[in-house]
Amino acid sequence: MVKICCIGAGYVGGPTMAVIALKCPSIEVAVVDISITRINAWNSDQLPIYEPGLEDVVKQCRGKNLFFSTDVEKHVSEADIIFVSVNTPTKTRGLGAGKAADLTYWESAARMIADVSKSNKIVVEKSTVPVKTAEAIEKILTHNSKGINFQILSNPEFLAEGTAIQDLLKPDRVLIGGRETPDGQKAIQALKDVYAHWVPEDRILATNLWSAELSKLAANAFLAQRISSVNAMSALCEATGADVTQVSHAVGKDSRIGPKFLNASVGFGGSCFQKDILNLVYICECNGLPEVANYWKQVIKVNDYQKNRFVNRVVSSMFNTVSGKKIAVLGFAFKKDTGDTRETPAIDVCKGLLGDKARLSIYDPQVNEFKTLDYQRIYDNMRKPAFVFDGRNIVNAEKLREIGFIVYSIGKPLDPWLEDMPAVA
Ligand code: NAI
Repeated sequence: MVKICCIGAGYVGGPTMAVIALKCPSIEVAVVDISITRINAWNSDQLPIYEPGLEDVVKQCRGKNLFFSTDVEKHVSEADIIFVSVNTPTKTRGLGAGKAADLTYWESAARMIADVSKSNKIVVEKSTVPVKTAEAIEKILTHNSKGINFQILSNPEFLAEGTAIQDLLKPDRVLIGGRETPDGQKAIQALKDVYAHWVPEDRILATNLWSAELSKLAANAFLAQRISSVNAMSALCEATGADVTQVSHAVGKDSRIGPKFLNASVGFGGSCFQKDILNLVYICECNGLPEVANYWKQVIKVNDYQKNRFVNRVVSSMFNTVSGKKIAVLGFAFKKDTGDTRETPAIDVCKGLLGDKARLSIYDPQVNEFKTLDYQRIYDNMRKPAFVFDGRNIVNAEKLREIGFIVYSIGKPLDPWLEDMPAVA
């Protein structure tokens, strides 16, 4: 029986391993973490993260071939394949602070693997890491290896929070990077064999290590770039009377462009996009490519601009001050169907409003119910003029206007009220 161990029981490690366990009954999967509370939660009825369908998968496999444990060393030493799915946040201090990935957790995981291993292992980078990280990991492992053979693979995860289980069950592709040596190719094949239990062969891509590592950063940068592109357009739509929904629909109909990721919003959030682009920017700078670095930096700048623009719109519409005004914030997670609030744009919007001394009440139901609220009742209970600022273009603005609301929808033609109160950048 093949044994898999995954270090890091987070948003990636938990769901990914649960699906591997579900699809590969002949493989024993142990997910380990240094956080006792997280592991206890994985072993309880109240899982530590919310993902549609996750609870079902965990319940089917837990205790059979899926185990959650804090006994990191035991499971690592017994495993044939070790996934490392620890967090890789942006460095906050020292060299590369504010941009480079902090690999502290990765390094300590690698040193522990080297310490406790007694047999050959395949070590899989599941976390998103800077290109060339595998080289550093290889050095840590081989310099401390006591003659054990370690093969490093890069197998970045492309799941999106909110649809993680569906993404894992039916991935667009599985990417596996490895050394171009016979041992490297053998390791790639071993991991392919795991995924081949449910992923069609033509969707499993094998590349060299550096391509796999860089592809993950590139994919996130491209996705975020589309959001910043449509958000930049939304500002121009508001200035000209064009409607961003109509523009993005027309643009997305071009089969070379496609319709996905073209919704204007208050900005992208989540734990990955900003961190991975900053990381990409840093790598470009380190490789003497300032023009490329600046190109990608602009994606983040437009995102910050969009969040600021939203806050300014709220404040300027309400007579240039929200001091003492009560504002209800509907939704706080960075998107629907997730409980994750890491780097959510709502944080910056709330900070901006608090900076102007607003009084905030925040509500997040985890799933999307804001389309069907009783807006008439809400309107009746509000001080007038009553405003709705829709950062996701979710509400039916026309209906709300009929009730009497002044409505701001991102990138849409402005209400006369908003036109009279221009937001100062
Ligand atoms: P997370 O913070 O939810 O989980 C990481 C876990 O690793 C934590 O529970 C932490 O306690 C544990 N950990 C840290 N050091 C450890 C050690 N030495 N031994 C054992 N456990 C340790 O992070 P998340 O969101 O799962 O992300 C993990 C990686 O996957 C990151 O590199 C991220 O960029 C990448 N990723 C995240 C996606 C997402 O949607 N969240 C999607 C694709 C990739």
